[in-house]
Amino acid sequence: MDTSLLLLLYVLITLVFQSHAHYSLGEEKVTNLHFYFHETSKGDHPSILLVAQPKGANANDTNLAPFGSVYVIDDPLTEGLDPNSKVVGHAQGLSVSAGQEKTMIVFVVDLGFTSGEFNGSSLSVLSRNPIFETDRELAVVGGRGKFRMARGFANLHTYTLNATTGVVVVEYNVTVFHYE
Ligand SMILES: *[C@@H]1O[C@H](CO)[C@@H](O)[C@H](O)[C@H]1NC(C)=O
Ligand SMILES: *[C@@H]1O[C@H](CO)[C@@H](O)[C@H](O)[C@H]1NC(C)=O
Ligand SMILES: *[C@@H]1O[C@H](CO)[C@@H](O)[C@H](O)[C@H]1NC(C)=O
Ligand SMILES: *[C@@H]1O[C@H](CO)[C@@H](O)[C@H](O)[C@H]1NC(C)=O
Repeated sequence: MDTSLLLLLYVLITLVFQSHAHYSLGEEKVTNLHFYFHETSKGDHPSILLVAQPKGANANDTNLAPFGSVYVIDDPLTEGLDPNSKVVGHAQGLSVSAGQEKTMIVFVVDLGFTSGEFNGSSLSVLSRNPIFETDRELAVVGGRGKFRMARGFANLHTYTLNATTGVVVVEYNVTVFHYE
């Protein structure tokens, strides 16, 4: 047999063995998380930046996110409604304006925790986020660390959405199914 045939055999055998590999996740459990999301688009240290927008579009206070606008966010998550309360994590990622008919934000965001039991773990959100609906739901599609293979949902309630000051404050209740 020539080497390439041997190599092919080896790859096939490895694939067969790998497909039988066993990985145990442990018991499934449910965790509820509660925190507040703070965003500031104005001032010296904005936590959201417009990184791309279509030619001719101009985001302004009445049209916050024209179709095609792409924002990068790094928004603190705090324990309380007060922006000066303890920071428990950050929401980092992309906020994309993907609605032609009306403003529709799609969130591709990592919720990374920096304190408590879930310090170092994070949740992956990939979801529509209709920011003009006071109450809405986001899909949690995965996670890392203690949230490995997690899935769940987040119920959101907007407390503040002020285009003049650029301040957005949203309450998050996250229900996560994950493993011990
Ligand atoms: C904001 O943008 C919209 C759409 O591009 C435009 O119609 C409106 O005049 C702008 N408003 C201001 C205050 O510039
Ligand atoms: C979170 O974990 C990091 C890295 O392990 C550690 O440096 C930090 O002190 C921890 N923070 C808290 C609040 O436990
Ligand atoms: C979060 O849960 C608390 C306690 O159940 C409730 O009072 C609050 O209204 C909920 N908020 C959201 C946004 O779901
Ligand atoms: C936004 O903030 C400004 C300045 O603090 C305030 O005058 C205005 O009433 C606020 N708008 C809303 C919708 O809360």
